[in-house]
Amino acid sequence: MSTVNANLTYNYKVVRQFAIMTLVWGIVGMGMGVLIASQLVWPSMNLDFSWTHFGRLRPLHTNLVIFGFGGSALFATSYYVVQRTCQARLISDGLAAFTFWGWQAVMVAAIITLPMGLTSTKEYAELEWPIDILIALVWVTYALVFFGTITKRSTPHIYVANWFYGGFILTVAVLHIGNNLALPATAFKSYSAYAGVTDAMMQWWYGHNAVGFFLTAGFLGMMYYFVPKQANRPVYSYRLSIVHFWALIATYVWAGGHHLHYSALPDWAQTAGMVMSLILLAPSWGGMINGMMTLSGAWHKLRTDPILRFLVVSLSFYGMSTFEGPMMAIKTVNALSHNTDWTIGHVHSGALGWVAMISIGAIYHLIPKLWGLPAMYSTSLINVHFWLATVGTVLYIVAMWVNGIMQGLMWRAVNQDGTLTYSFVEALEASWPGYLVRFIGGVIFLSGMLVMAYNTYMTVRQKDAVAQDNAAAQPA
Ligand code: HEM
Ligand code: HEM
Repeated sequence: MSTVNANLTYNYKVVRQFAIMTLVWGIVGMGMGVLIASQLVWPSMNLDFSWTHFGRLRPLHTNLVIFGFGGSALFATSYYVVQRTCQARLISDGLAAFTFWGWQAVMVAAIITLPMGLTSTKEYAELEWPIDILIALVWVTYALVFFGTITKRSTPHIYVANWFYGGFILTVAVLHIGNNLALPATAFKSYSAYAGVTDAMMQWWYGHNAVGFFLTAGFLGMMYYFVPKQANRPVYSYRLSIVHFWALIATYVWAGGHHLHYSALPDWAQTAGMVMSLILLAPSWGGMINGMMTLSGAWHKLRTDPILRFLVVSLSFYGMSTFEGPMMAIKTVNALSHNTDWTIGHVHSGALGWVAMISIGAIYHLIPKLWGLPAMYSTSLINVHFWLATVGTVLYIVAMWVNGIMQGLMWRAVNQDGTLTYSFVEALEASWPGYLVRFIGGVIFLSGMLVMAYNTYMTVRQKDAVAQDNAAAQPA
């Protein structure tokens, strides 16, 4: 617990708990990613049990990495940032503790139900209705704690990072409740309140904004606090950060139609999704440039500070995936990319390059502060982690780009008589080397996470040693 003035202490306990769980869910979720990647290389890795099958473990991977790993990083950093920038303690320790234990219960419920095949089948919203209700309760409590703390701030201004976190919290509440409205049939089976193309549109309004708000806006909040802090420079343009916020949230909510190109969704809605996706490039790059330019005059720090390197490289992957996304949203490009590994490559350049790297950088910044230590146990191990994460990400996404474009071209190749040149299985066989490279990239990325866990353990132990030394030094 740290003291800011004589009367004010922050609630760091909940931040510490979420920071540690970011690592735990990161390792378990990425371990699951490596397992399903191995299943695509060696089908025998499905192990012949229904509950270890690719179809059941894939949603478990996405839930663990997005909500377990990403979610814990967002809870940890938002609770830290809102207290520091508002100079106020969280309004309630009890409610904050409820969000922690409630969120862990959701993740445990996912680990039990998804391998059992209990799923609503909506991507990224697979969990069945009783768990959805728990998520809604935790989320509303999260909103109460976050916005309640803002209302009792002792600073006149609400720092821009809190706007992004606040936008993320509010929108995710609306998305989660809207998309998961369903009629329960039994304790673990429900039917969506929507039907046909309306259901598809609701799902991808949710799905795309899960990307825009869960995987982007919240992490931009992280960027606006941790990049200036780690670089020890003010945000390049505060005015741009406000324009960035409003432009981003106003555009993202319209872009979901790009997931349903060439489907039964009315053509105008598909085109609207495409156009709004192209417009989205501008606010996305505005934010990326604002983050990058914050390093003006501090670029030399990159030579010696691997935490700053994580943060800056995450911004370049953010820029890359938000250039690629609008391109893939163009209907003619999507005709090639859709359903291929190109999408998977795009997803992971955002997920590994942007979301995971910025979270890793922020957590490295946080750990020593939360335990009252000057620095992490080993800076060279952070450097090793940086290279493992970068090489792992690059191998993953390059393999998927090659596979994706090759698959798209092979599927559409036709002979002069109009028959298909390649069968589906031929395209699958040609994808094998790419799957192997992706698996290797995943193993490398995961080993970086293990290095981080070791470094964190040694740092926290150091704190215990310091406490023991201090106790020993006390006069009897
Ligand atoms: C060691 C790291 C990781 C590995 C090896 C890995 C591997 C995989 C694999 C094999 C798939 C299934 C692809 C398919 O169906 O063809 C997948 C899907 C997915 N992963 Fe990961 N993953 C990793 C990390 C992450 C992280 C950190 C996130 C998010 C923060 C993430 C988000 C996703 C999402 C959203 C999908 C579904 C993509 C879609 O449906 O288009 N992954 N991952
Ligand atoms: C300007 C920003 C972005 C735009 C316009 C965009 C656009 C797209 C498009 C067109 C697709 C393919 C849809 C399909 O063919 O089915 C897609 C898929 C996806 N994108 Fe992005 N993207 C953007 C940024 C990001 C970022 C930063 C992330 C991750 C952090 C991300 C995560 C995903 C995921 C998870 C999917 C797969 C959804 C699924 O089918 O399961 N995107 N995106």
